Amino acid sequence: MQVQLVDLVKDFGQTVAVDHVNLTIKDGALTGLLGPSGCGKSTTLYMISGLEQPTSGKILFDGEDVTEVPAEERGIGLVFQNYALYPHMTVQQNIMFPLVNAKVKKEEALARCMEMAKLVKVDDLLKRKPSQLSGGQQQRVAIARALVKQPKVLLLDEPLSNLDARLRLEMREEIRRIQKETGVTTIFVTHDQEEAMSITDEIVLMKKGVIQQQCFPQRMYLEPANQFVAGFLGNPPMNFVEVQAEQGMIRLNEAQYPVQEDISGTVLAGIRPESFTLGEELTVLVESVEIRGRDQLITFTLNATPVHALIDSVHLVKAGAPLSLAIKGKRIYLFDKESGRRLNKEFKYE
Ligand SMILES: Nc1ncnc2c1ncn2[C@@H]1O[C@H](COP(=O)(O)OP(=O)(O)O)[C@@H](O)[C@H]1O
Ligand SMILES: [Mg+2]
Repeated sequence: MQVQLVDLVKDFGQTVAVDHVNLTIKDGALTGLLGPSGCGKSTTLYMISGLEQPTSGKILFDGEDVTEVPAEERGIGLVFQNYALYPHMTVQQNIMFPLVNAKVKKEEALARCMEMAKLVKVDDLLKRKPSQLSGGQQQRVAIARALVKQPKVLLLDEPLSNLDARLRLEMREEIRRIQKETGVTTIFVTHDQEEAMSITDEIVLMKKGVIQQQCFPQRMYLEPANQFVAGFLGNPPMNFVEVQAEQGMIRLNEAQYPVQEDISGTVLAGIRPESFTLGEELTVLVESVEIRGRDQLITFTLNATPVHALIDSVHLVKAGAPLSLAIKGKRIYLFDKESGRRLNKEFKYE
């Protein structure tokens, strides 16, 4: 089901949590709602679910206005960070609960419970209580319970945040698989850019209640709309260095790089750490080297700003020595210093 937010606002008095959001969530897709803590992700999700009423604006499900429809009549499934399973009930009772509540016949409820338990792979744990399950297993049960009523939209609010690193990786793949198998329109809230990039069809990146960019993950990474998006995606993050753009040129240390002629004055040049490679374009003095395995993280100064580069570990790089570098594809992003707006045109995909 397609979900549309039209000029949606949530004002908590002191804070405008969601600030005139216009957004279309694609039917059948896994959409990541991404942004730093406090940017309005949960508030947006709760308005879609009906748990929170908007201050103004509309929510449409497949074109139908549901803004005034109560949560329980919207056909949504919700999963929270803290599982929120009923501790005194078994796994089976937890999964069946929404069906029992809706007075679905026992036989059918059992059959659907089994189907969901198989889907999320907890069918061998049905008699256990939540306290006898690992965090990942509890979250699987929570997902089964959210899906058992065959919701039109599945809403996940930071579902992996309470899991340890290894389980988080495993469960994000599982969420991807379950979403693919069911085809249910899913909105996945996270503050973790890597999580969002790895499993979603599309990312919506928010900052202070305002949508910054909406597109598929690779595109957001390669063509950020502004400095905030550029800095939010990627680890280690993009480097930003002040440069003077003049007559279609900028200078990085002693090296010159061509830029669009229509860009001039003091601007920010953004270069991803992995865009650096050994080459003959610019010389830097290596300040530190940190081996990370496949890559080494090298620190040096560009235009008086500390910069990180990721260079293949096979090259021997020494701290204190000069190093000749190049920028792959001359991929330098340019941003307005004040607004952070992207100034240069998109690069061609190679
Ligand atoms: N019930 C509330 N009352 C007052 N302020 C709130 C309430 N819920 C959220 N906020 C504020 O709204 C902003 C967005 O919160 P939230 O949607 O929870 O962000 P996120 O989920 O992205 O971390 C924050 O500044 C938060 O403090
Ligand atoms: Mg939140």
